[in-house]
Formats: sequence, C-alpha cells, structure tokens
Amino acid sequence: MTGRISREFIDELLVRVDIVDLIDSRVPLKKTGANYVARCPFHTEKSPSFSVNRNKQFFHCFGCGASGNAISFLMDFGHLDFVEAVEDLAAFAGVDVQRESPSQVSIKSGRDCLGDLYLLLERVAEFYVEELRNAPVAIDYLKSRLVKGEVARDFMLGYAPDKWGAVADKFDQKLLIEAGMLVVKDDGKTYDRFRNRIMFPIRDKRSRIVGFGGRVLNDSLPKYLNSPETPLFHKGKEVYGLYELLVKNPKPQRILIVEGYMDVIALAQYGIYYSVAALGTAVSQAHLDLLFRFSSELVFCFDGDKAGRDAAWKVVEPVLSSLKDGRLCRVMLLPEKHDPDSLVRAEGLDGFVARVQEAQVMSDYFFEQMSFGLNLSEMEGRAQLHAKAKPYLAMMQDSAFKEMMAAKLRDLSGVKAVAVLENNLVSHGLGVNRSRPAEINRLSSSRVAIALLLQNPELAKLVEKKEIDWGGLEFKGIDLFKNILQTILEKKIVNPAVLLEYYRGLPEEKTIIALAFLDVHVVEDKVEEVFFDALSVLLNQAREACVLRLQAKAQTQNLDEQEQALLIAMLLGK
Ligand code: UTP
Ligand code: MN
Repeated sequence: MTGRISREFIDELLVRVDIVDLIDSRVPLKKTGANYVARCPFHTEKSPSFSVNRNKQFFHCFGCGASGNAISFLMDFGHLDFVEAVEDLAAFAGVDVQRESPSQVSIKSGRDCLGDLYLLLERVAEFYVEELRNAPVAIDYLKSRLVKGEVARDFMLGYAPDKWGAVADKFDQKLLIEAGMLVVKDDGKTYDRFRNRIMFPIRDKRSRIVGFGGRVLNDSLPKYLNSPETPLFHKGKEVYGLYELLVKNPKPQRILIVEGYMDVIALAQYGIYYSVAALGTAVSQAHLDLLFRFSSELVFCFDGDKAGRDAAWKVVEPVLSSLKDGRLCRVMLLPEKHDPDSLVRAEGLDGFVARVQEAQVMSDYFFEQMSFGLNLSEMEGRAQLHAKAKPYLAMMQDSAFKEMMAAKLRDLSGVKAVAVLENNLVSHGLGVNRSRPAEINRLSSSRVAIALLLQNPELAKLVEKKEIDWGGLEFKGIDLFKNILQTILEKKIVNPAVLLEYYRGLPEEKTIIALAFLDVHVVEDKVEEVFFDALSVLLNQAREACVLRLQAKAQTQNLDEQEQALLIAMLLGK
C-alpha cells in the first residue's frame, strides 16, 4: 500500500470515532462526572488517575502525564507506529484507510502492496532452513558454536548454499531483486547475494521477515553480510531478535542491546530471551523509540575493547534525548576480549545476569565520562565539566530526571544556575503547571486564552468575527495563539483531538497537550466570557506596550509613516 494516508481521512476518522468507546474496548472505563476514568494502562497505580474526556476526545493521566488523542492512545497502548495506529483506528471504525492517489506521492517500488515481498522472504527463509538440514558443513559450524536445535528453530536459522543461483533459479527474479536477495551485475545478469553462509532472518515486530544477515563458516571476509536497504528493510530502524523476544515475553522487564547476531543467539540459549542486536549500525533514535515501546529499561552491552567503548559513548546522545521519567538506561562494558556470547559461556547465566543488574546507570556513566581527565578539585576543571556537559543536558526532555541531572551537574561543577532547565514551555512564552486550585488565580491570561481556544475550537470563529488587527501587538504566546487560531479556521477543526494531529512531532506539541489539559475551572456557559476577557486583557496590554514603545521611540527619532499610523490607531483604541 503506497500513498500517504490523506490528512482529510485522519481528520474525519478522529471525528467519527469516539475515544471513550475506543479506550473502553481495551481498558474498561468508569464514568465519573464529565470524565471516564480507569487505572492507567501506562504505569502501575492503585487508584485511577487515567481520565478520558468525551468533549475533548482526549485522554490524560494525572499520574504519569501520558496524554493524547485516539491515535496517540493506540500508538502507546499497542506499541504501534503512527501509520499502524491509524490503520487500527480505521479498522475499529469499520472504514478503509484512504490514501492519497499514487500520482500525488513518490512511489519507490512502483507496487501497490509489499505483501508479495514479505511472502517471498518467508519462502526464502523456509528454503534456507531446508538447505541447512542437508548441509553437514553448516550444521557442524553451528555445533562448533554450541547452537542448540531449539534455538536454531526459534530464530529460524538457515543456510544459503554455495551456489550462484540457489534462490535466483527458484523464486521470482524481479521480487528477489526488489527484496535485495540478488546482486545485479552491470550486464544485467544476477546472482545470489548470500552464498555459503549461515542465514539469520530479520523480522520486524509484527513477525514479518524484512531482511537477512548471513555469516561465513570460516574466517573469510566479510564475516557478516546484511540485506541492503530495500522497501522492507531499513537498518537504522530494525533490530535483530525483537520479534523472537516478544514471542517469549511481550512485556520484558528490560531489553539488552548487544552488538552481534550470535550474541542474541547465545544469550537465548542461556534463557536470556530479552536481547536484541543493532544491525551493524550505531544505535539510533528510531531504535530507542522502538525498544522503549516494549520496556522501560534498556541495557547497552558493549565489548570491552576500544571500539566497544567508543560505541558506548555514541549512544549517549540518542539516549539522553529519549530519556524521560520512568525510563532507565544502563551501560554495560564487558571485560576485555569478551562479547556477550563468550561471556555468558564463561560466566554462566547467573554471572552474566548479575553483571546486567549491576550495569552502570546512564547518569553515572555520563558524568564519569564527562569528568574523565578533568581535575574537579580545581575551579578550571569544574568549569570545563560544566561547559562540556551543558549541551548534553539541553538535549533532554523536560522531566524530573533532567532536573536531577542538572542538580548533579551543579553539585559537581559548583555552578549554581544551569540554564538548560528552562523548558520548552518557557521558550513558547508559557509556563505551564498542572493547575492545582491554589494556582488558578495565577494562571496568566495568555494561558487561559490559549487553553480555552484549544479546548473549545468553536471560539475561533468568534475571534475571526472581531476582525482584530494584530499588527504591532506582542504578548507572551501570541505566535502560538495565532497559529492555533489559523489552524482551527483553515482546517475547520471541531475538537482538540483533531487539532493535535496538526502538531504531532512539532515543537509546539508538548505545550499544546499540556494546555489542552489545563483545567481553567470555568463552567460551560461562562467559557466564551472568560475567554474574551482574557483575550481583551492581552490585547489591551499589548496595545499599551505598543503605544509606550512607539512614544519612547518618537522622543529620540522620527517615526516612519507606518509607525505613525499604528500609534494613532492604537491611541484611538482600535
Ligand atoms: P562482530 O565482528 O563483533 O561479530 O560484529 P560477532 O557477532 O562477535 O560475530 P561472531 O561471534 O564472530 O559470529 C558484530 C556485528 O557487526 C555486524 C554484524 O551485525 C555483527 O553481528 N558486522 C560485523 C557486519 O555487519 N559485517 C561484518 O563484516 C562484521
Ligand atoms: Mn562473537
């Protein structure tokens, strides 16, 4: 299925489906007042703080902060990516997903359906399994690496025979090429990419084979060969062993990230069915996003050599940017000359697991690496630490964890103000706190105005009618306010759930979610009044500020025509 899912379709779908029905079908809800509540499916809790609001078509957990619309719910609850969540939501609504017509999108493979490719790779994998049975050399090799039959079956290990046309002659050539199984020569002739290799099928989290890794049986090079990038296979997004892990344990307490195929296999043999391998690439943000959907603790295992230590440091950036409260990462550096395969064999299950449990938490690892070679008993050393560490902390999402990292940096460096704590909300000009009754009086007008607009998109029409001249006006959050206003009007948005879709993944998303849940404590028939009161406070303040600015300028220099006109208009109270 090529073609992007059309925007209109997503909007319609979010209007058609009732989030209360959707969530109730997965997590039974109880009605209390205007909301429906349950114990939060995203964290462990005794009393329900997970709440679903029918008018807003939003869910929100006051305990862990999870929130969003129906699509977000399915993504989080079902560990789905965006497209999968839309597909599931469409299925729930009983409608077919509408995609933009192929002419509107770039088509890579020129086919309507990748299904044939998945099917092909499944057949090829079965073929390799069959070949393994008849290949004593390959069986001997696996035996020499102490691979048991059971594990070989679980991972569907196979053997690519030592022939140029083993798969080329057996399966559809065009499909094979598209799936990366053949090499095409300049003269157009083709031959099998994988020959005389132990074959490791790589499955995505939905069990579909997307590619293969193949290992030689001796010391020849390259030791491993992987499928090239294809419409199915993206190295930077997949990990080896995830599907096999999920079969054994859909909610693993932790996931171990190792370097090699054989490490995953060896660990499985010892009952450690919770490891995956990055496919010969650096661990990416996409990898982390994928893995954090299934477990809140990731342990990165690296060989004890220099290459391993260098690789360990490379995960710091993606890890810091994806860490938030409730997520934990550890770094486990193995003893020199060991990889997980050799180590688990040398130390046994208990020894290995003990090392996993004792692995250094990311924060300790980070500060240890950062302080390396610096003399923290001298002011210069501490200043260097502060300068080095600050940009990394700036990558982090706002969270209690980030605050603790900043506190630690303050302790180590002695620098009191670590400015990186200023969060996204502040950068939009809006500090958002969860509103406790005592704080309501302190809600700024801009927060009230934006929150009410978000929560009641129908207000946008009324604002439009007022024909406000925004020129020269500035107040905290004005850009966001105007942006939301425009989006609602242009896209004819009827509820916050649809609006959120337009900000998914954008810098404003967090602020918008927070404000969509800001409880302004207004009874329904007062919404319009409170909103316009807040807006007029803002506009008056902005006009006054503008007048003062222009008058101050007029004292020292001449105003240009535009400025004069603006000043007059403001003074006339337009
Ligand atoms: P290693 O060389 O550490 O291999 O590569 P290993 O897993 O210990 O292999 P064994 O134990 O000798 O079988 C780690 C990973 O790097 C990628 C593979 O994904 C491999 O599992 N790699 C390595 C390649 O892609 N190509 C290579 O030639 C070598
Ligand atoms: Mn190895």
